Amino acid sequence: MEIKPEYVIKALGEVRRRENPNPQIPTGDYEIWIDDITVLNVSKTPPIGVIKQSNISEELRLRYRYIDLRRSEMHSNVIMRHKIVNSVRHYLNECGFIDIETPFLTKSTPEGARDFLVPSRLNPCRFFALPQSPQIFKQLLMISGFENYYQIVRCFRDEDLRADRQPEFTQIDIEASFICEEDIYHIIDDMFKRLMKECYKQALKTPIRRLDYETALELYGTDRPDLRYEMQLLNLKSFSALKPKEFILEGLEKGKSLYGIIIQDPGKVSRKILDRYTTLSKKEGVDIFTWLKCIHGTESGPMSKLFEIQISVKMDHINDPDNFLLLAVFGEKKAVLSFLGELRIELAHVLDLVDKDKLEFCWVTNFPLFEWSKEEKKIVSVHHPFTSPNEEDLDKIPKEPFKVKSRSYDFVLNGVELGGGSIRIHKIDIQKKILGVLGFKEEENVKKFGFLLDALEYGAPPHGGIAFGLDRIVMMLQGEDSIRDVIPFPKTNKGICPLTGAPDTITEKQLSDLGLTTGHPLS
Ligand code: AMO
Repeated sequence: MEIKPEYVIKALGEVRRRENPNPQIPTGDYEIWIDDITVLNVSKTPPIGVIKQSNISEELRLRYRYIDLRRSEMHSNVIMRHKIVNSVRHYLNECGFIDIETPFLTKSTPEGARDFLVPSRLNPCRFFALPQSPQIFKQLLMISGFENYYQIVRCFRDEDLRADRQPEFTQIDIEASFICEEDIYHIIDDMFKRLMKECYKQALKTPIRRLDYETALELYGTDRPDLRYEMQLLNLKSFSALKPKEFILEGLEKGKSLYGIIIQDPGKVSRKILDRYTTLSKKEGVDIFTWLKCIHGTESGPMSKLFEIQISVKMDHINDPDNFLLLAVFGEKKAVLSFLGELRIELAHVLDLVDKDKLEFCWVTNFPLFEWSKEEKKIVSVHHPFTSPNEEDLDKIPKEPFKVKSRSYDFVLNGVELGGGSIRIHKIDIQKKILGVLGFKEEENVKKFGFLLDALEYGAPPHGGIAFGLDRIVMMLQGEDSIRDVIPFPKTNKGICPLTGAPDTITEKQLSDLGLTTGHPLS
């Protein structure tokens, strides 16, 4: 009888302990002495390997996902996903949270991405939007008197895809009434502590570190810092060893910024890398990127054209004045910090500082309420329009919107945002004020979220919450680089499913039932 890889067989025999156990495989202690064997089903030669895969395109893996999922790595990801969901559910249930479902066929929700739309056959020219999150419904549930809600729920966002983004993904969505930031931190710290213990047998130290948003930007150039390595950014304005030339001094007086990074191990950062950063800096909107390298006391680099450098003085933060690399960036503060933040991440890899086994969780708190969107050329919410401003900043609205801080927080692991949330606005007058700053006209408010505004007038309790990306949690804890490796049936980066061929064309009949025309041929 012929038996090939991936055949399904039934074997009858005696299970025995092996004379020579093989500790490399899970069943290595046992073997079966077979008396009878039946082939239950045959298999074509699989187009992708199950035991070993090398250089196989993701497109092919996703086309034959049911074979790809047979691999032990994929199995363990899917099983761990289940265990994580299980741990979170048990924890939240024990804390008194109630799992409540919210609609998928609904109205646009304001999370900042494009909506996936569903035409309504019964109501021609009307469209449902699939929820980007259950945000408004969970707030309505608070107003309905359900004080502790959670849902492990699919969300839909039509946005450009990346390694940590999918058009449909799963949120662990949480909301509670009569709650403040400290309560949220406490509940979530304990949720992750339990998850790490139950699923990974690891003791997570709590309380999880907290970083103010401004501090995160100043020290790491990003609001989702990777804390597995130090290499903090430095404000070079007060550096004793650097005296900037006139035009930089003038710029500093006018509010521009000068920040840098010091690398104590300069040999690993080649001239080629530095030249690339110089080219990159021109695209990133900073005024100047410059550097000074010192190896065994020999200086190189263009920095001396812009600064008087008193190297004989023991320079601030430099361990060995004969061996260091100093990178300096000058320009508008936001662009300078963001550029250095990117360099910090890249340099950490170049310098081999990233410990892949380390998990550094942190909270980032105190975000601004508003920011300026260059793409949309208008003021937008940093989180969403229902985020509560800090009480003491209320008088800055509407005159100084960018100075208003919010009661929001993000939860970050190794440089990836796992979750975010806020204490919400529960007073109608404040909500209307915020929508006004965001440029929503009264009629627009009513059309878009009139139902929430109405509800706020019927005794809304103070409330707040948070949502986590489940897929991102599993990706990070399983040490995967792509979210697609922890989702059984994901979409490619182009937003398609090679297995089913979705999205697909539809027939003339389906279109006409919906009262729609495409303007394109249907093939
Ligand atoms: P936010 O938009 O920050 O907040 O989303 C919460 C978390 O959801 C995950 N996430 C995604 N995961 C995969 N693919 C995507 N396209 C994607 N988009 C978001 C991230 C993110 O941190 N309603 C608010 C939460 C609240 O205020 O309670 C919200 O959805 O891990």
